[in-house]
Amino acid sequence: MKIDVVTLFPEMFDGPLGHSIVKRAIEKDIVEVNRVNFRQFGKGKHHQVDDTPYGGGAGMLLKPEPLFDAMDSINEREPETKKRVILMDPAGKPFNQAMAEEFSKEEHLVFLCGHYEGYDERIRSIVTDEVSLGDYVLTGGELAAMVMIDATVRLLPEVLGNVASAQTDSHSSGLLEHPHYTRPAEYKGMKVPDVLMNGNHGLIEEWRHKESLKRTFDRRPDMLASYALSDQDKKLIAEWEREAEETE
Ligand code: ADE
Repeated sequence: MKIDVVTLFPEMFDGPLGHSIVKRAIEKDIVEVNRVNFRQFGKGKHHQVDDTPYGGGAGMLLKPEPLFDAMDSINEREPETKKRVILMDPAGKPFNQAMAEEFSKEEHLVFLCGHYEGYDERIRSIVTDEVSLGDYVLTGGELAAMVMIDATVRLLPEVLGNVASAQTDSHSSGLLEHPHYTRPAEYKGMKVPDVLMNGNHGLIEEWRHKESLKRTFDRRPDMLASYALSDQDKKLIAEWEREAEETE
């Protein structure tokens, strides 16, 4: 996969791209990440990239030309690839695991990171997606792009040593992940559940599924609406709902 990040602050990406799993994916040539500083395409002596809004109002807007020129430079360097051009925008579609999975199947992702108040509207004509990290406003799109790159790259084939671990993650299955334990079997009076120690894989799977369901019911009941519940799941949920009513 190829990734281009169009940003005024390319050094911000040193941390996330230079460590751990993403670093290894780059070293193994599973993903190639280029940073394009669109300041170089700014106008005039000062390479101006922003300007005041027509019609008045506070703040500065990113001018269209530097971002169009940055995109042209990427298209010239990589004329053949099919590109997904993703604008970082707090007013965009909220990012989620399904989107990370979709992005991980693409050939070439281009992340456009704004800073300052906003974008000249015409920039939207060169993008395929407008995506938000969440319902809050960051100082720029860089942190959002870093999160999206991280969540996408870990899903690429051969990136995670243990493929099964991506499939059982919270959000991949549609439920939150069940609790995990490692040695010691008892710590400060807190014991590992017996079921995990007896080697009965059928019972362990049943326990893990029930714990995932319970955790999702407690913390993220909204996720259950889009999960295909079995009859047994529905019975458990009805029981927990009854218990919750009794303790009210
Ligand atoms: N830029 C500023 N805030 C943002 C957000 N929440 N998501 C994506 N880009 C942003």
